[in-house]
Amino acid sequence: MPAPFSVLHQFPLQSLNTFGIAASARAYLRVTEKEQLLGVYADGAWATLPKLVLGGGSNVLLTGDFDGLVLHIALQGREVLEDTQQHYLVRAAAGENWHAFVQWTLAHGVGGLENLSLIPGTVGAAPIQNIGAYGLEIKDVFHSATVFDPCSGETRVMDAAACRFGYRDSVFKREEGRHLIILDVTFALPKQWQPNLRYAELAAEPGLGNAPTPQQVADAVIAIRRRKLPDPAVIGNAGSFFKNPVVSGAQCAALLERFPNLVHHAQPDGSEKLAAGWLIDQCGWKGRSLGAAGVYPKQALVLVNNGGASGADVVALAKAIQADVQARYGVLLEPEPVFI
Ligand code: FAD
Ligand code: EPU
Repeated sequence: MPAPFSVLHQFPLQSLNTFGIAASARAYLRVTEKEQLLGVYADGAWATLPKLVLGGGSNVLLTGDFDGLVLHIALQGREVLEDTQQHYLVRAAAGENWHAFVQWTLAHGVGGLENLSLIPGTVGAAPIQNIGAYGLEIKDVFHSATVFDPCSGETRVMDAAACRFGYRDSVFKREEGRHLIILDVTFALPKQWQPNLRYAELAAEPGLGNAPTPQQVADAVIAIRRRKLPDPAVIGNAGSFFKNPVVSGAQCAALLERFPNLVHHAQPDGSEKLAAGWLIDQCGWKGRSLGAAGVYPKQALVLVNNGGASGADVVALAKAIQADVQARYGVLLEPEPVFI
């Protein structure tokens, strides 16, 4: 049954994107019940307008005003669904804050998400780019997602195979899945928990000892992130601005001959993942600015809003960085945030 909804007009978006970019939307709806989506798509006045589904706004770059309807997903709720022999099945609604959800699982004695502590944004956006950090990606603990398909007006459940997860990628970023709205996500978290300390920087964090608890691993991840990454409440940013580029083994070997210190990680298929932050740093961009947009002095992969930056300022800086990295290393850096 469609539920009543009330749309606001000419809505400011500056506080709804972590870059802090000033822009407005023609119309805005805070979605607190999934039945409101049925109402929107059944209503002739709203059904045909372009839509922007927004969670915490921590992985978008607003390049101008949005001439359409923003659907701000605020669905709430979380529960431990089932306790199987191997897993706890834990579900959270799309509008739940990601980090608060991770902390909630830990408070319930359920480990498995701690390596993804302190990532900004919502539960519903986590599968969109298959969020990852410190040796874990969502795909490793994902069970299923309930999605609303505006084309059919129907709701369905998608498993991991249907989501086609890749590095910072999923079906939800591609043509065939971009229209789907995630309503909730279920995770399968291990009953036989083992710390995941594959990421060298995490393993080296003092205070973890030989047998850390999930909360101790979470605290270590939080400490590293606080040291390295800017807090969006203080300085506008969207985390890593570029994906780490994946090149062939042959291209990596050729680069290593010219740049012996090149940071690279072998992938199971023989390709090599390079560190975009290292490439940008080596090009001398760390700490530099172009207009009101800048490169974070402690992490060259993070572009920041030094105050009053527009989407165009950030795009200009990103293009200048891409051009330098391409000229020096022959590698094209692909942006990670979604450009609106
Ligand atoms: P938004 O920015 O609101 O949306 C992102 C995309 O998802 C948009 O295309 C939007 O339309 C779509 N979307 C949002 N919600 C839904 C939904 N319910 N259904 C369908 N589509 C939806 N990412 C990592 O992977 N690893 C990190 O370590 C990491 N660190 C970060 C650190 C900082 C300081 C910041 C600012 C960002 C970081 N990010 C990281 C990026 C970001 O936090 C994640 O991509 C996060 O999942 C985005 O969530 P969000 O709710 O803010 O999404
Ligand atoms: N490096 C430099 N200079 C810099 C930044 C990095 O030389 O200014 C080098 C580092 O010394 C290291 C390598 O680059 O050797 C990788 O750096 P880091 O460990 O900081 O990780 P990253 O590749 O920059 C990725 C993710 C982050 C995630 C961390 C931890 C991407 C695009 N980014 O960053 O995700 O938190 O690893 O797992 O994959 C995000 O997606 O928004 C994000 C923050």
